[in-house]
Amino acid sequence: MTAVLEGFDLVKRFGATVALGGVALRVGRGEAVAIMGPSGSGKSTLLHCLAGIMKPDGGEVHLLGQRIDTMRERERSALRRTRFGFVFQFGQLLPELPAEENVALPLMLGGVSRGDAVRRAREWFGPLGLGGMEGRRPGELSGGQAQRVAIARALATRPAVVFADEPTGALDQATGHDTMRLLVEATRGNDASLVVVTHDPQVARWCDRTVEVRDGQVLASAGYGAPLPPGGHGAGGYGDSGDFGDFGDFGDFGDSGVSGVSGADGTATRILPGVNG
Ligand SMILES: Nc1ncnc2c1ncn2[C@@H]1O[C@H](COP(=O)(O)OP(=O)(O)OP(=O)(O)O)[C@@H](O)[C@H]1O
Ligand SMILES: [Mg+2]
Repeated sequence: MTAVLEGFDLVKRFGATVALGGVALRVGRGEAVAIMGPSGSGKSTLLHCLAGIMKPDGGEVHLLGQRIDTMRERERSALRRTRFGFVFQFGQLLPELPAEENVALPLMLGGVSRGDAVRRAREWFGPLGLGGMEGRRPGELSGGQAQRVAIARALATRPAVVFADEPTGALDQATGHDTMRLLVEATRGNDASLVVVTHDPQVARWCDRTVEVRDGQVLASAGYGAPLPPGGHGAGGYGDSGDFGDFGDFGDFGDSGVSGVSGADGTATRILPGVNG
């Protein structure tokens, strides 16, 4: 499988704390990777380093063969806006904008005209089960609906990789599972890779692979370097509650559009904006 995103020997320290102690991770095209591990083990730090939000102290990050960790902040910011999509624990939608404009915003930041951006944004609502909610403001949506809007926003610019850090952490279990499935299906169906931090072992079942992080290291049992199966294989997990720091600068990310067919569990699910919306 072609590697889309690769981290080599990533090291990150916060004072005396070694948050990442030399971590390698390779993410294939369209691959969904779940990152699990106890609170404080380095999951968010790993995600932030891979996503160009945080500069590692050591190691390298490559996107499609191009080294990105040494880019200037300005370039990394542009990269985050165009090649990456982000979904965070609390959607982070702009409260004063209708849902469709929240989705359209990254497209407009990328230079798409307002009319085209809103038109493209609207195509996501049907496939994500949000038909009729285009004009609602985030405060008028349920938590699960708001996260689906965040998923649409993450995919609207058609990113190479979507990063999600506990995207269902603020939802009840059933809603969280529905939302996570949509996230996995929508990213996979659109050929975007997914790197998702989760504490929910159930979530790992919809991903292709689970990577376990402990004390700033990826466990050997996590399967790094193993051949990647085309379907999904679940991995065991454990519960863990963690709280959540802030996410640094993601105010200016953008992201992309989707279309897809998938289903880690064998069911064909279509998430094709503009087709079945
Ligand atoms: N900005 C920071 N300043 C100082 N220490 C930090 C900072 N960010 C993370 N750390 C430390 O680095 C380690 C890894 O943190 P990280 O946020 O990556 O953990 P995590 O696995 O995401 O945990 P959780 O499940 O609670 O979100 C922890 O010991 C944490 O206290
Ligand atoms: Mg975290």
